[in-house]
Amino acid sequence: MEQFLDITLFIASILLIIGLRKLSHPSTASKGNSIAALALAIGVLVAVFYPLKTQNNNYLYIVIGISIGVIIGVITAKKVAMTKMPEMVSLLNGFGGLSAALVSLVWIINNHFTGNSGQLFIVLLNLFLGFVAFLGSMIAYGKLSGKLQDEHLKIPFSTIVNIIVLIIAITAMVFFAYNGNMSINLLYVFIAVSLVYGFTLVAPIGGADMPVVISLLNSLTGITAAISGIMTDNKLMLLGGVLVGSSGIILTLLMCKAMNRPLLSVIFGNFSSAKGNEASVGGNVKQINSSDLAIQLAYSNRVCIIPGYGMAVAQAQKVIKDVETVLESNNVEFKYAIHPVAGRMPGHMNVLLAEADISYDKLLDLEEANDYLESTDVAIVVGANDVVNPSAKEDPASKIYGMPILDLSKTKSVVVLKRSMNPGYAGIQNPLFFKENTKMLFGDAKKSLEIILKELKEL
Ligand code: TAP
Repeated sequence: MEQFLDITLFIASILLIIGLRKLSHPSTASKGNSIAALALAIGVLVAVFYPLKTQNNNYLYIVIGISIGVIIGVITAKKVAMTKMPEMVSLLNGFGGLSAALVSLVWIINNHFTGNSGQLFIVLLNLFLGFVAFLGSMIAYGKLSGKLQDEHLKIPFSTIVNIIVLIIAITAMVFFAYNGNMSINLLYVFIAVSLVYGFTLVAPIGGADMPVVISLLNSLTGITAAISGIMTDNKLMLLGGVLVGSSGIILTLLMCKAMNRPLLSVIFGNFSSAKGNEASVGGNVKQINSSDLAIQLAYSNRVCIIPGYGMAVAQAQKVIKDVETVLESNNVEFKYAIHPVAGRMPGHMNVLLAEADISYDKLLDLEEANDYLESTDVAIVVGANDVVNPSAKEDPASKIYGMPILDLSKTKSVVVLKRSMNPGYAGIQNPLFFKENTKMLFGDAKKSLEIILKELKEL
């Protein structure tokens, strides 16, 4: 039986790798997701049956726990709107961290608060990272959903506080590991310190810098899953944790590059030095209507779409594809400029555009896009804001100063589709809307594009 379960776990591990590999391309992602889900379901079943020699497996509790989890998971996954997906991912990430921390807690209690130095250090590290990932992800959830505002989470001298809490946590881990034991009261204090660090790490980071911290929290959860896999001798959990942890670290580095922020300043919780006293923004706003824009598009040679979070809210991707089809049949070159942090989760725009069958070859990354935008006749900004904000280049006092943006200063004509003059996620006004080459088309992006499509078909 044990051999059979080992082989099953091995097969599940291979399925997980295949599933994750397929996730790397939009055309195979859906299949990859199902294969990875199957692998994890097998992993859960094997984990339930594996401890064959342990006599006191309480299957009733296990079945109740799994049933509650499955019911909540299925209902929320079915109900959640696509635009709320980043919040859901944050919650799930946080629960992953909490589970890992609980694995460590159970180990400590089962081992009567003692262990050899190496064991105890690893178990406490897992406990620490698990609680940091848990509370950090909950705060990230609050920020992404708008339930927590950056102003309410300001910590005085946050970098110093952060470093002190981190030093206390590391010292405690080394001390307990060296002694080979700890009391229950010290365990409570250690848990409190871990939670405080989760708070001081994420709370001061706000606005446009959230993508980096989100990917860092993902990698922390992956690392805790890997350590939990070692502790419970579950090779699938170890493998999954290693894959999530390492890909999370790669993503964190990519996000740091995308935001032009050094990794160390993320870990110590101090991002840009700018205080956020942006220069005042104002001037004339020029508007355009859908009919005029349709005519302008029909007579263009090169058109570029810049999608942002507003495209996800409006669910405008399929109409954009239809506009692309009509314009391409009129020999207009049509491309998409993708900013790495557009939307609310890594790859958000790529997923939505793939869903609308938009060819991957038409998607330009930041550098390619900035070259292309110099020779573009019309750039249509569909619900993007922070990722095209020139303050990132022009205003050293801005919160987003230093973040690379899609640069529209040389584009012949820019049209911004949004509903109002409201700011984006970073909460700052955008001087682009007042520039000479920019016009605004106010309204829901999908509705505006539907009118443009109708006009184009009638031209
Ligand atoms: P944002 O700066 O958030 O701007 C989105 C814009 O969409 C808003 O200004 C909004 O203006 C408009 N909008 C909303 N609903 C719309 C609708 N139905 N029709 C038309 N427009 C609509 O988006 P972005 O440029 O994509 O930048 C992303 C931001 O989120 C960055 O600051 C980034 O750092 C942050 N962030 C990203 C991530 C990841 S991993 N990608 C994670 C967390 C945070 P109106 O209200 O006026 O319509």
